[in-house]
Amino acid sequence: MSELEAPSKVRAVAVVDLGAIRHNVATLRARVGSAQVMTVVKADAYGHGMIPVARAAREAGADWIGAAVLDEALELRAAGDTGPIFCWLTTPGEPLARAIAAGIDLSASAPWEIDELAAGVDDRPARVHLKIDTGMSRGGAVPEEWPALIRAALAEVATGRIEIAGIWSHLASSDEPKSPVNEAQLATFRHAVEVAESFGVDPGLRHIANSGGTLALPETHLDLVRPGIATYGLSPFGHDVPSGELGLRPAMTLKARFAMVKRVPAGVGVSYGLTWTAPRPSTLGLIPLGYGDGLPRHASNGAPVQVGGERRTIVGRICMDQCVVNLQDDQVVAGDEVVLFGPGADGEPTADDWADAAGTINYEIVTRLGARIPRRYVDSGR
Ligand SMILES: Cc1ncc(COP(=O)(O)O)c(C=O)c1O
Repeated sequence: MSELEAPSKVRAVAVVDLGAIRHNVATLRARVGSAQVMTVVKADAYGHGMIPVARAAREAGADWIGAAVLDEALELRAAGDTGPIFCWLTTPGEPLARAIAAGIDLSASAPWEIDELAAGVDDRPARVHLKIDTGMSRGGAVPEEWPALIRAALAEVATGRIEIAGIWSHLASSDEPKSPVNEAQLATFRHAVEVAESFGVDPGLRHIANSGGTLALPETHLDLVRPGIATYGLSPFGHDVPSGELGLRPAMTLKARFAMVKRVPAGVGVSYGLTWTAPRPSTLGLIPLGYGDGLPRHASNGAPVQVGGERRTIVGRICMDQCVVNLQDDQVVAGDEVVLFGPGADGEPTADDWADAAGTINYEIVTRLGARIPRRYVDSGR
């Protein structure tokens, strides 16, 4: 029975296969030898649901869970995750004391962040991973300011308020494994570790690899890897290296039921701006999903779907709550199922196909799916 059939006939659903998540985490673990694995579950686990994904990842052996923002990290603890959690994106004045008390590892890129961490300490020291900017120019201390960050951290190590748990950075171009940028970033990283060691710092966990590094750049594995997108079975390399070739299984399938099906004569225009005109008498299906649910409006007039085993195309503009499929002469009625994307194993479009239609990356396709779409969990492994 399809997930959209009785008992509850929902408008749409994102089905998430936790067996696929476990398989992907185990596959990533097997690739990195003795390095630890941090499963990245930020942004509601790239749209898949943070708590169920984190649980599945722990079951499959994830040593760490990675969160971007404090609320995510605290929610993981509140849900009962007692393992190592790293959270790397805070802004001045955030309640770091709560995170420190909850035993969450935090990041610092500047001396003022060390001061804030130290001020948030009560009965246990703050565990901090010092971030070096190795060339992406996002977070991290630039190499010129790295010694100042180390000195600030060491001053608080001396007071017992801070423990240096790691040194870390982020790869800008690991989706292009041959790019010289990767090597240059790694060289800058290694030098930063040496500088820290020259100050007497034990660097703890050294980490820089995201999914691209984990899958294609073994020299970046160091002590720990932080794969996000690969956990969800999607390739960081898009169509260049499909996920199947990487041994990964896409975990999410997005389905809906047609709200309406109608026959229109040739020459009829469709959706806002009438940007598509039926070239001949056609059957149109109304999907009750739109950009209000996270479908990219840029995928108007081109995104693929699957109906009754056949590929069909979204025509006209994607609206806030709805979009229209050209069903040609298909025998389809309101309530029938349409698959927007999934693993692709049964011929359905993939998140990469949607990414192509929208001029974006698979990350954005799954991550933007909104709270209006219920997530339903299945488990292919059980
Ligand atoms: C700091 C950090 N580490 C790891 C990841 C995971 O990256 P990816 O999804 O490419 O594996 C991200 C996501 O962008 C990140 O911001």
